[in-house]
Amino acid sequence: MLIQDLWYKNAVVYCVNVERFVDANGDGIGDFEGLMRRLDYLAGLGVTCLWILPFYPSPRRDDGYDVADYYGVDPRYGTAGDFVELMHQAREHGMRVIVDLVINHTSIQHPWFRDARANPKSKYRDWYVWSKKRPRGWNKGMVFPPVQTSTWSYDPVARHYYFHRFFDFQPDLDTASPEVRTEIKRIMGYWLELGVSGFRVDAVPFVISTKGPDVKPRHDFGFLREMREFLQWRQGDAVLFAEANVPPNADLDYFGDRDDRMHMMFNFVVNQNVFYALASGDTRPLVRALERTRQHPMTAQWGHFLRNNDELDLGRLTDAQRQLVFETFAPDKKAQLYGRGIRRRLAPMLDGDRRRMELAYSLMFTLPGTPVIRYGDEIGMGDNLALPDRQAFRTPMQWSAEPHGGFSAAKRTVLPVIDDEVFGYRRVNAADQRRDPDSFLNWIERIVRMRKEVPEIGWGDWQVLGTGSPHVLAIRYEWRGNAVVAVHNVDAKPHTIRPGAKLVNLLSDDHSDGHKITIEGYGYRWYRVGGLGETLSGERA
Ligand code: NOJ
Ligand code: CA
Repeated sequence: MLIQDLWYKNAVVYCVNVERFVDANGDGIGDFEGLMRRLDYLAGLGVTCLWILPFYPSPRRDDGYDVADYYGVDPRYGTAGDFVELMHQAREHGMRVIVDLVINHTSIQHPWFRDARANPKSKYRDWYVWSKKRPRGWNKGMVFPPVQTSTWSYDPVARHYYFHRFFDFQPDLDTASPEVRTEIKRIMGYWLELGVSGFRVDAVPFVISTKGPDVKPRHDFGFLREMREFLQWRQGDAVLFAEANVPPNADLDYFGDRDDRMHMMFNFVVNQNVFYALASGDTRPLVRALERTRQHPMTAQWGHFLRNNDELDLGRLTDAQRQLVFETFAPDKKAQLYGRGIRRRLAPMLDGDRRRMELAYSLMFTLPGTPVIRYGDEIGMGDNLALPDRQAFRTPMQWSAEPHGGFSAAKRTVLPVIDDEVFGYRRVNAADQRRDPDSFLNWIERIVRMRKEVPEIGWGDWQVLGTGSPHVLAIRYEWRGNAVVAVHNVDAKPHTIRPGAKLVNLLSDDHSDGHKITIEGYGYRWYRVGGLGETLSGERA
């Protein structure tokens, strides 16, 4: 079951929503053709793995996380032929592709559910979770309060209540059913045959939860092993990348202590503590989060990110910490969501302050794991709080100063492109930043390149070094006899640290002979320990 190639440990992942990226045929909706035309841009950025958000036929009441057909492409974005063409072109550009696997629930419009509700004898009836009477916990356990108000809804056609962990248009599949499990593997097998390198698995803790009106929820980790086995047998180098926002003591249950469950997980705990560090200037809780999520299985890897396609979830901070992050980055209640998160992009949270944006990304790119960038963040896009819920930060990509930011030639676009004074497409767009060597886009390109040249971060062992300052985080990574140190000062004021070894700066000329380093407010440094030549001699060792 051991994966044959640990490519994902030194990958640069880019998360893209086809619908919001580029519209090639001018109907106002992004499409596969448009994405293909931008592969050069992504390759130039240094992306090695595309993660494509759901593009399956869907009523899209939850941006495609309500799937109506697992074996298709929504005609608004193109055809299955376009998907295969994208796979081919991505490979030509040296990019792998992973896709979302959304199998906790289907859309209420999925033919399985339609048949299940209409016909009690349907074989699909047992694929969902029903109750004749309204179950006791019907108004508990919602993921999207207060927008979502229950987890059991009455279906007048079936004359039963059905269970939905998320919105009422997303009925849960009974993932304990052997038939459902077989179908899930079919779906995985299908996309693997079309060339994907794995899946971002949606809502994993809920997928493996036992479900039913009288069931005390229990996690069946065996199913993760089943998925891993199937995947790895079919394709030796494919990965499962879990969305599982769980406490650190549950990590190993998801990775599997014998390299037999998920290959990768998003590190939500570290993510929240990065934002706490940026808000408070104190890196100590972040260090604790890193230590508590240290990973042991050989093939396991964390995915690190700053912002993702959902609200910035702060649910794992203490109340006081969360309050501080809210006050710092989203004082306006309108910018808060579901009582636990922030519905903003990174750049506006940091007031577009270039120093702090660089600090945040430099820190993210040096966290022990694999970096995941979200489309638009590489140019510092903003958000539009006039849009409902999570749409605020899901606006179309800003390509140029042309109408609709060059996203589309249509009169109306699927969602308005941001057009304000500060973060609107006239001021923030890829074309202008491409021309400007000092732009954020070109800085991101350089830091991506540097991250790839420092595989110690993705592969190696790491250790937090004492810096004598709570504001300064220093991590040393070691792999194959080579060592790198990254230093980040999350405070506005300069601080001095003593590294005790000769350090060669990888980003600028100020090296250190081992005495002291003064690091300016919001400063960051990447050093190679010893001389640069040591890389080569070390490799032979
Ligand atoms: C997690 C996804 O990231 C989110 O966007 C979605 O709404 C839920 N899962 C339900 O599928
Ligand atoms: Ca289109």
